[in-house]
Amino acid sequence: MLKPAIAGGKSIRKDFLVFGKPKITSAEVREVLDTIRSGWLGTGPKTKKFEEDFRRYAHAKYAIALNSCTAGLHLALDVLGLKDGDEVITTPLTFASTANVIVHHHARPIFADVNKLDWNIDPQEIEKKITAKTRAIIPVDLHGRPARLDEIKRLARKHKLYLVEDAAHAAEAIYHGKKVGAISDFTAFSFYVTKNIMTGEGGMLTTNNPTWAEEARIRSLHGISKDAWKRYSNAGFTPYETLYPGYKYNMMDLVAAFGIHQLKHVENNLKIRQRYWQMYDAAFAQTPELITPEPEEKNTRHARHLYAILIRPEKLQLNRNQFLQALKAEGIGAGIHFTPLHLHKFYRETYNYKIGDFPNSEFVGERTISLPLSPAMTKTDVQDVIAAVLKLVAYYRK
Ligand SMILES: Cc1ncc(COP(=O)(O)O)c(C=O)c1O
Repeated sequence: MLKPAIAGGKSIRKDFLVFGKPKITSAEVREVLDTIRSGWLGTGPKTKKFEEDFRRYAHAKYAIALNSCTAGLHLALDVLGLKDGDEVITTPLTFASTANVIVHHHARPIFADVNKLDWNIDPQEIEKKITAKTRAIIPVDLHGRPARLDEIKRLARKHKLYLVEDAAHAAEAIYHGKKVGAISDFTAFSFYVTKNIMTGEGGMLTTNNPTWAEEARIRSLHGISKDAWKRYSNAGFTPYETLYPGYKYNMMDLVAAFGIHQLKHVENNLKIRQRYWQMYDAAFAQTPELITPEPEEKNTRHARHLYAILIRPEKLQLNRNQFLQALKAEGIGAGIHFTPLHLHKFYRETYNYKIGDFPNSEFVGERTISLPLSPAMTKTDVQDVIAAVLKLVAYYRK
């Protein structure tokens, strides 16, 4: 039996496999250089092109390019008029910003537990949490798997709630034949470095409502009148005025230069990740110490952003954090998506959440490990990850 590197054995890799390494081609490099040479670095024609390309890709009527997904979620709630004392229901198994943006509006985040099998927010749990103060639901398409959007949308319509989808992980996702981006009232996407479409930092907000789209656009650039970004262009100076106390959430052309080409490669990169996903599934199928992701529903496409295994600590001599450390010692970078938010200091102390409140989210949160899944990886990289995981399982099996 091979000895793990953490116990003094030889590591699987000599060079460290970075988690979430982006794939950048010469097309992005040329476009970025072209943007620099053009002298127009801020919001401008390239941002407009990226918005239009993404809008078509998402099958949405409107798309607003922003500097993050967080900005998109925040803006959506702003446009929908969220205010003091309102409640918004979301999953605890998510990144901080999904709930932080609710707090920024002085509203209350109300968590609803996930389903233990697919790890996404459970519509039945949502329904239990609806009160007279509920204004919106924010489902998260965790790891790229669309939430049960049909059922959640039905609930939203029945109770007159807004639906703001956090699709940070799910640019390519399709749910029951419909493209994510065209399903909810608003959908927010992330183009952070590790994401399936990456621009360094960046995001996109889509909607089919023209009034909301225009308001979101205006509020994304200080709240000054429409197309204010053109005020220094050769179209001549256009006077503007402040309509709302807006934000500085716009995307720059320098950033959109990446996005335009990343979007061209998105489907091809998905195929690569789908192949790597199958390699992981096949390699771990006969390993009872691990739980692997469920297959997706019919007529639905998983965006394959994160491949997470759950380790079964009762069958192993090490817990999840020790497993993660042992993987690192083998030269494999891995992540945790996520430790449930109700257990984070702010949410615990502010809303009196405690261990036991959301058992399914806690079950996943204690066991989950995201393995590297990037189109920049080679097949050998994937084989190294598999070898490292299986080596640890074999050595530490109870
Ligand atoms: C589920 C989820 N929502 C929102 C975000 C925020 O995205 P951004 O960094 O683009 O603001 C992230 C970031 O990783 C995320 O994982």
